[in-house]
Amino acid sequence: MTNKIKRIAVLTSGGDAPGMNAAIRAVVRSARHFEFEVYGINRGYHGLIYGDIKKLGTNDVANILHRGGTMLKTARSEEFRTTEGRIQAFNMLKEHEIEGLIVIGGNGTYTGAMHLCKEHNVKVVGLPGTIDNDIYGTDYTIGFDTAINTAIDAVDKIRDTADSHNRLFFVEVMGRHSGYIALHTGIGSGASAVFIPEVDNSVEQYVEILKKSGRRNKLFNLAIVAEGNQNGSAAEIAEKVKAKYDKADIRTTVIGHLQRGGAPTANDRILASRLAYAAVEALSKNKFNCALGIVDKKIVYTPFKDAISLVKAPEEELIRMAEILSM
Ligand code: F6P
Repeated sequence: MTNKIKRIAVLTSGGDAPGMNAAIRAVVRSARHFEFEVYGINRGYHGLIYGDIKKLGTNDVANILHRGGTMLKTARSEEFRTTEGRIQAFNMLKEHEIEGLIVIGGNGTYTGAMHLCKEHNVKVVGLPGTIDNDIYGTDYTIGFDTAINTAIDAVDKIRDTADSHNRLFFVEVMGRHSGYIALHTGIGSGASAVFIPEVDNSVEQYVEILKKSGRRNKLFNLAIVAEGNQNGSAAEIAEKVKAKYDKADIRTTVIGHLQRGGAPTANDRILASRLAYAAVEALSKNKFNCALGIVDKKIVYTPFKDAISLVKAPEEELIRMAEILSM
């Protein structure tokens, strides 16, 4: 008796991330190689619950590799968090005779996938698709590289104004509860401070650094603020600094969703393609209930329960280095 499945589906869920299209394309093309029929589910788990499902062929995924966003659309489904929602989703999969599912998203996506595996024995594998890079079991997530390149590009532009006006800019970047985007943006743009959730940054200490740099005639500064840091938003930190150092001419910028869009970088296209191929291969070998990642250049499979519960945080060494280079 063979366990070989015939029909698989792919969906994207949670926040969109550059490289998701490259992953969808690679799923469809790999599926042909492994002799699976492949379906696309629109709008993530929401579309699954409501049967927004269509067959995908090679032509459907032509000319998307280089595009940001996701051709399958995405959503954050409240209904799928409920047992009833997942029963409905399972019934849709049964109706379409879909036995294997590839989900591309972040932690919330993986949590849904784990429940679907546990409650209904669906063969699900996950791919890390989020700009936040906060998924355990992979060095990088799909979208992170593009997001930090976009953020660094934005900070480079802000630097021109900071320099021309001798100003201090607080630039807020995304990352939800994670400091990866801020830390990497800070290192890549030569910021004089990085406020991240993983570090208990002291505003007082930063003010001292600013005063010192003023004395050595460094008249402009850039600080990168992760949205989830412990001191508040860029605007709130700016206010705290102004209260202690009123000489500073301060401005704030929130990069926001600019970081989520745009053409994926080469790294994200290649990462997405490689992971998606490996996901289809995993299903062909009857491997499921796990998330895929690349660690030290090798594909690794992490059970959903670990990928969800284990925390991935920026390396201490990198945090220390960023501090040293900022002075
Ligand atoms: O998870 C990706 C992310 O962009 C986070 O960095 C951010 O906190 C969140 O999504 C924003 O979500 P939304 O687009 O739903 O406002």
